Amino acid sequence: MVNVIGLGYIGLPTALMMASHGVEVVGTDYDEELVATLNAGKTTFKEEGLDELFSTALNAGITFTTEYQSCDTYIVSVPTPYDKLDKKIDPSYVVAACKTVLDVAPQGATLVVESTISPNTIDRFVRPLLEEAGRQDIALVHAPERIIPGNMVYELVHNNRTIGADDVEVGERVASLYASFCEGEISVTDIRTAEMTKVVENTFRAVNIAFANELAKVCRIGGMDVYEVIRIANKHPRVNILQPGPGVGGHCIPVDPWFLVGDYPETANFIRLALQTNFSMPEYVLQRAYEAMKEHGITDSSKVGIYGLTYKEDVDDVRESPTLQMLEAQAEHLGGAQMKIYDPWVETDVVPNQVHSMDEFLEGLEMVIVMVGHSQVKGKPELFGNRILIDPRNVMGKGKFVYKL
Ligand SMILES: NC(=O)c1ccc[n+]([C@@H]2O[C@H](COP(=O)([O-])OP(=O)(O)OC[C@H]3O[C@@H](n4cnc5c(N)ncnc54)[C@H](O)[C@@H]3O)[C@@H](O)[C@H]2O)c1
Repeated sequence: MVNVIGLGYIGLPTALMMASHGVEVVGTDYDEELVATLNAGKTTFKEEGLDELFSTALNAGITFTTEYQSCDTYIVSVPTPYDKLDKKIDPSYVVAACKTVLDVAPQGATLVVESTISPNTIDRFVRPLLEEAGRQDIALVHAPERIIPGNMVYELVHNNRTIGADDVEVGERVASLYASFCEGEISVTDIRTAEMTKVVENTFRAVNIAFANELAKVCRIGGMDVYEVIRIANKHPRVNILQPGPGVGGHCIPVDPWFLVGDYPETANFIRLALQTNFSMPEYVLQRAYEAMKEHGITDSSKVGIYGLTYKEDVDDVRESPTLQMLEAQAEHLGGAQMKIYDPWVETDVVPNQVHSMDEFLEGLEMVIVMVGHSQVKGKPELFGNRILIDPRNVMGKGKFVYKL
């Protein structure tokens, strides 16, 4: 039996996927409300294909509880934020979960940390727990996750995976557990390589996005179309530049690269600069909007609205979102009235001045900053009438009053 610990964006779909493929699974989360929701037959976030997967897993016998189970394999999928001051990983959730696992795990159990962790986290923070508890019988494994919100169910099945273990036999055993549903290639390696590989993957994307963002700024000063430049440059067989945008959000790309900056502050300079470039974008967009307001004689910020609160299109996750970063920049540096905000994917009130329908949102607006390219509006500028559009995602097409980055 597998006990999946932490039933958030990653743990829940993983638990459901295993259960749907013949593995006996119990899902555990210490959040009583979340467990009650799952036990009432409802999923806890919106994701393409998740509800169907949930029904299949329920029929296959998955159960949810706040209690840790006695079983042969544990998969820990709890948050791994970074410390905002020293930029190092905050391993406290992983440590707390692993400690509780050790209290209940039978002899010879396998403890898989699926959370994203900085290289050396298992050796520095988890292995000592085994030593303190006299539980060297427990096999440690790191199995990082690569799925992208919005396409999680597909990617869980089709992505390649990495499994890091102390010995190959344990690694292969855990690889075959994941192979119950994963059709991708599974690379078995040592723990530190697996830890580093996952962080490197997200760092690669952060650096590439930062490059695109810097190009956007350069092209604007130089009077060039960055999208056209990138489109053509990418026709080169060995060039693949990502797209610029209003910043990076979510739980991965703006977070994981900091682990390397925190642990190697003298060396990881290029990565630090990339992150700073990405974090400069929400304020850059805001300044762009203020310039356009000036150009069009709009003096009142309440005539400007922000469409999109999530960190990417067609998901309901607002963590670290560029819109939230932009609102912070607005409050801290630029003052002015709070702009009206609408996101069709976010039903709860996350920020002041948030409205819950497109009609209510558009009323009285002369300008809209489209921070997220949800399918609702992508390629449909007519939905905004003749309002001026600030389009840092490049999803509105060209138009007389459509301003890109
Ligand atoms: N969200 C993503 O897109 C994504 C992608 C790849 C990897 N990851 C990584 O996966 C890990 C989990 O991320 P997430 O987005 O699922 O987080 P999340 O916040 O959505 O979910 C974490 C869950 O763990 C529970 N939890 C925390 N401590 C616990 C404990 N001690 N015992 C029981 N339950 C506990 C919380 O209540 C929460 O429900 C992180 O390391 C993240 O970096 C996330």
